[in-house]
Amino acid sequence: MKEYGLYLNGQWVPSSSGRSFQTINPATGEILASFAEGNEKDVEKAAEAAFDAFNVWRQFPAPKRGEILLKAAMIMRKRKDELGMLVTHEMGKVIAEGKGDVQEAIDFLEYIAGEGRRMFGETTPSELPSKFCLTFRQPIGIVGIITPWNFPFAVPCWKLGAALVAGNTVVFKPATLTPLCAATLVEILEEAGLPPGVLNMVPGPADQVGKAVVEHPAIKAISFTGSVSSGRDVYSRASAHLKRVGLEMGGKNPLIVMDDADLALAIEGALFGSFGTAGQRCTATSRLIVHEKVYDEVLQMLVSRTEKLKMGNPEDPLTDMGPVCGRDQEKKILSYIEIGKMDGAKLVIGGGKLNHPPFDKGFFIEPTIFEAEHGMRITKEEIFGPVLSVMKVHGFEEAVRVANDVEYGLSSSIYTRNLNLAYRAMNELEAGITYINAPTIGAEVHLPFGGVKNTGNGAREAGSTAIDEFTEIKTVFIDYSGKLQKAQIQE
Ligand code: UN1
Repeated sequence: MKEYGLYLNGQWVPSSSGRSFQTINPATGEILASFAEGNEKDVEKAAEAAFDAFNVWRQFPAPKRGEILLKAAMIMRKRKDELGMLVTHEMGKVIAEGKGDVQEAIDFLEYIAGEGRRMFGETTPSELPSKFCLTFRQPIGIVGIITPWNFPFAVPCWKLGAALVAGNTVVFKPATLTPLCAATLVEILEEAGLPPGVLNMVPGPADQVGKAVVEHPAIKAISFTGSVSSGRDVYSRASAHLKRVGLEMGGKNPLIVMDDADLALAIEGALFGSFGTAGQRCTATSRLIVHEKVYDEVLQMLVSRTEKLKMGNPEDPLTDMGPVCGRDQEKKILSYIEIGKMDGAKLVIGGGKLNHPPFDKGFFIEPTIFEAEHGMRITKEEIFGPVLSVMKVHGFEEAVRVANDVEYGLSSSIYTRNLNLAYRAMNELEAGITYINAPTIGAEVHLPFGGVKNTGNGAREAGSTAIDEFTEIKTVFIDYSGKLQKAQIQE
């Protein structure tokens, strides 16, 4: 079995505590690798390495920083099949999605590499003669990057790519469920030419490593993706240090089916949105809001398609849904299924854990559909698993009201052929992302990604806004008049 240390200053080193932990395949329980478990002292060392490297890295011309990211993307392209399988082994998503995760990482690195040649500032006239005004972007310094397990290649690449191209150095705390993907990504960036100390990785528990990253005074900004409860903790701790914080958190994403929709298309979208990645995307469809006129038909079509979904070995290209990622996740999802039943929701299909071989060593939960009433806990709280609540509404206004009546606002979708309703939905759905006639998952990397309400704090990852999270704007006034000119005072 492979053993990994922490990655500090370009070296794989043991942890201060000498403790280690293992990463497993959630489909089989097989141990994949052993990792040094970091703690506060290791974060200190990582921050020191990042501090020393900052002066070197910030002097690298931005296009050269971009070239390293592009090279990393090229290495990943060559190794895509193998890396996709690694994602599948460690995280449990089916192989097509494992490769998709890697593809999303490649896409973003290719996109953001070009940012090295943009990094646009502004030039603008002055209110005074013989004076010139401009802005340009500078790195923030050392940034702390804390990533989830559900997209173990793509999400770290969104954050690392933007942070690195901008000239920041990084202390990276990957999810403890997927450190092998993170370590492989670090190796790829090293091979691509990232100098030592620019990226330092400390895997370990959130209450030690995560907390130390968030509270370290030399780490100037935090970028976090994870649950609302962890994000709240990150935000409040970081605020004591007045840090810049980018938060990307939960979702309770609605998919509305209107009575004029192409129902077959809507059902395919709902299935992919709900049960793709076993429902473990922050963009997953967890509420299907259906017009009463087509409700019975939609439910019946949905159930008959769900019955045919093939659960099993995520390596097999014919498998539709693999395991959920780990014991805690499984426990949480099963407890929500119980809550749904207790609250009186009608279980239409699924609801169980698969206990028979070959599933008994993994964490397999059936695709589950409830007929629910808006307001029940399963319709309001993020489950992060293959559990869909279907609800009946009387029309568009009620659909939007129900869709918006949750604390989250990441993704949303409407299936309709009515152009006016489509535009109204774009405008009225409280979410960072709205899809028309497409499911709630599947955002593309060259557009901003993020949410409103408790999903985030206004930060947008990816797209043209990716760089904003990781740069400071410097404003410069150049006076070539040769005399003192007084803004706002001089007539
Ligand atoms: C996430 O679940 O954290 O839009 C990211 C999507 C993917 C990204 C999901 N492109 O579903």
